[in-house]
Amino acid sequence: EKGTYPFYMLKEIDEQPAVMRTLLQKYLDDAGKPKIETDLLKALNQADRLYILAAGTSYNAGLVAKSIFEKLANIPTEVQLASEFGYNTPLLSKKPFFLFLSQSGETADSRQVLVKVNQWGYPSLTITNSEGSTLSREATYTMLLDAGPEIAVASTKAYTAQIALQTILAKALGDVRQQTTATDFDVKGQLSIVANEMQSLVDEKELINSLAKNYLATTRNAFYIGRGYDFAVSLEAALKLKEISYVQAEGFAGAELKHGTISLIEDGTPVMAIITDKRVASHTRGNIQEVKARGAHVLTIAMDSVAQPEDNITFSDVDPMLTPLLTVVPAQLLAYYTSLNRGYDVDKPRNLAKAVTVE
Ligand code: M6R
Repeated sequence: EKGTYPFYMLKEIDEQPAVMRTLLQKYLDDAGKPKIETDLLKALNQADRLYILAAGTSYNAGLVAKSIFEKLANIPTEVQLASEFGYNTPLLSKKPFFLFLSQSGETADSRQVLVKVNQWGYPSLTITNSEGSTLSREATYTMLLDAGPEIAVASTKAYTAQIALQTILAKALGDVRQQTTATDFDVKGQLSIVANEMQSLVDEKELINSLAKNYLATTRNAFYIGRGYDFAVSLEAALKLKEISYVQAEGFAGAELKHGTISLIEDGTPVMAIITDKRVASHTRGNIQEVKARGAHVLTIAMDSVAQPEDNITFSDVDPMLTPLLTVVPAQLLAYYTSLNRGYDVDKPRNLAKAVTVE
């Protein structure tokens, strides 16, 4: 039930800190060590490459997880749109392991790949929010997100839960593989810090609503820019805005602006910049200057260590890998308020269903 909330989406955004804590409880022991099925870890450890298959927001969560698996577990990881992979299958490695990400567990595009994977005889894991779902029944292994029902068509808590659970899994695999990046990584401590910081961000509703009014009330288009993890989040942030507020939005890698996109910038075009990585923060700041010089209306979301006084939304430092769990929250809220203020049915955007069961 949505209780006092006007829409499920807002309730589900608010639930994210609690979802993080539930995952910590379920998948970590008291000492902070991951509790993962032994057979699953063994199968993963035997793999020479991880293939993450998903659609929509789950695909975007896969883009973030790719870097986390490569960093913590030192396993080459590819992320593919399930709809493309099934019919344009890339050359596979010798010992592939397939990871299906799906909130509903019913996405037909993902299922058709899993049917093939089973015919080929390769091991698979489904990470889903839906116990007993098709993708969970048909995969070799299942891990549940336990995020509670996600009712709004726009996915929010499933995205952050998928990233957090994959971080725990990557840490577990990295421990097995004796990777120092994993053994040195205090996943419990870091995710707890993230949960607290997430709470501070969901508490910024008034600020974010006023930014939505100021930047996005009437625009027909908008851009998110970022680099690395911030680029991956830009794609998800743009999807949220498109899906529920019908703003033509795109996420771009900051450096790509000068390779074409900047021609789209006009007087008043909203550009939301996400900045968390100190290695490239000054480059992104440079991109901001370039779009500002062409009239863009720039909103910034920045982590404290790279923040400047004029930034609109800031948050305390967390491990760089986990920044997507935080930067996505204001983006979810910006999309929510833009849709709300335009008078749309936030939970049921036009032309869309919660689970897409046709290819
Ligand atoms: O249930 P799934 O995670 O497999 O769904 C995949 C996409 O259909 C889904 O993420 C969709 O993109 C969302 N409505 C986006 O908010």
